[in-house]
Amino acid sequence: MTDQLERGRIVPNPAAGHVRSTPSASIARPSRPQQHSHPAELRINLGQNEAGNHAVSALPEHLLGRHCAVVGATGGGKSWTLGRIIEEISQFRSKVVLFDAAGEFGALDNGVTHLSVGVASSENEKAVSVPYYHLRESDLFAIFKPSGPSQGPKFRAAIHSLKLALLAPILSADGTILKAHRSKVEFERERARFISQIESPYNEFDIRHLPQQIQNECIDPQRSPTEPMVWGSPNGLDLSYCVPLVNRIQDMVHSPNLEAIFKPRRLPSIFDEVPAFLDDPDSKVLRISLKHLPFEHNTREILGNSIARHLLELARASRFLKQPLLIVLDEAHQFLSKALRDNENFPLDAFGLIAKEGRKYALNILLSTQRPRDIPDDVLSQMGVFLIHRMTNDYDLSVVERASGVISREVMLKVPTLLPGHAVMVGVSIDEPIVLKVNPPKNRPDSRGPDFQNCWR
Ligand SMILES: Nc1ncnc2c1ncn2[C@@H]1O[C@H](COP(=O)(O)OP(=O)(O)OP(=O)(O)O)[C@@H](O)[C@H]1O
Ligand SMILES: [Mg+2]
Repeated sequence: MTDQLERGRIVPNPAAGHVRSTPSASIARPSRPQQHSHPAELRINLGQNEAGNHAVSALPEHLLGRHCAVVGATGGGKSWTLGRIIEEISQFRSKVVLFDAAGEFGALDNGVTHLSVGVASSENEKAVSVPYYHLRESDLFAIFKPSGPSQGPKFRAAIHSLKLALLAPILSADGTILKAHRSKVEFERERARFISQIESPYNEFDIRHLPQQIQNECIDPQRSPTEPMVWGSPNGLDLSYCVPLVNRIQDMVHSPNLEAIFKPRRLPSIFDEVPAFLDDPDSKVLRISLKHLPFEHNTREILGNSIARHLLELARASRFLKQPLLIVLDEAHQFLSKALRDNENFPLDAFGLIAKEGRKYALNILLSTQRPRDIPDDVLSQMGVFLIHRMTNDYDLSVVERASGVISREVMLKVPTLLPGHAVMVGVSIDEPIVLKVNPPKNRPDSRGPDFQNCWR
């Protein structure tokens, strides 16, 4: 498809008696007689033009095919716009995974499965866990952040020992493996036997023993020069380097806020729910509410990244070619932190990779954020369409202007004065910028501000 064909513009649609934002790929089609052998095009009806006399709609492939970003200051209408787009596409045979950071989308219906991490807020929500043993070792590194030359190696060694303690109970009396002054022979033999399970990125071990096992790992590598197969004495220096890590793990593993991860009890795992949703032909939207997940310890980014990586792996295996999947990220800055992504020890780059490669595998992102400056440049620059609600911050404006590429000064001047629900639609998939008023969704996100009149009376 040429660039010319990819672009969109407003053209009259005599059949409907109104004007649509129609990509050139289908410009001629509305005025052509419909051929019965071809089904009508699927369109996402977004709203109306500024004057309110014409409908504005877009083909899914143009609105979402190269990813879409909804940006704007708080109260501009981003969540309502996401709600509108989700409702529109759930009329089709679509699949959407919605990350609902603030728990605003509980009213969505029509083929929606509602999950909530940790605690269910209402009857239609199912509480789920994010068990640490379904996370990867790299995710645990991102959560516990072992640092310095000692903590990282001892942390990894302790995880491997605890996996072995489960696989070969003969090595362990109390769930941990004692090493100081012990022979390595049996340990090495069992380690060789289970090496593939131990090296697996998943974490089949009992995390309650991790603080103790890290301390067990703080030993001299051998007892004497002539005893290479016997571990040495406890090493006080290593132990002192690891004390902060041990304390951090103790606190976090027993924190009530993190029970959904470290004490998953009998709650179903989110990593079982996602494949079940993908296999269920009647379920169109999987909403994951993260309302009860704490902000501390980057749990949101780590969980979001972990699910996104799972979806990316499925996408690379061609899972979505016949039924494209859309990931919707409200408050995307909570999941796509620049600082975490750039950390070379544990990069959280799954959304960035989806932004870059997802299009080929029919895995797309629709994100919203009030802080475009916090979204990594290489993610933002992949967005084919921007829906820009009212935005006043100069820095955010210039970031969006740069990323969207085709936006004019004249259009940008309108952005700071847009009313709630009004937006400018621009981007490489859109020929000319369009100012539109987005139709409110049927089931509105619960995004009301405080009711001062009643509460403070
Ligand atoms: N399309 C719309 N039509 C009419 N009113 C709207 C529309 N979109 C938003 N509004 C009004 O603006 C309010 C805020 O909208 P919304 O919650 O979507 O903002 P937001 O940009 O997501 O804000 P935040 O960044 O704080 O989450 C809504 O409660 C509603 O009153
Ligand atoms: Mg919002």
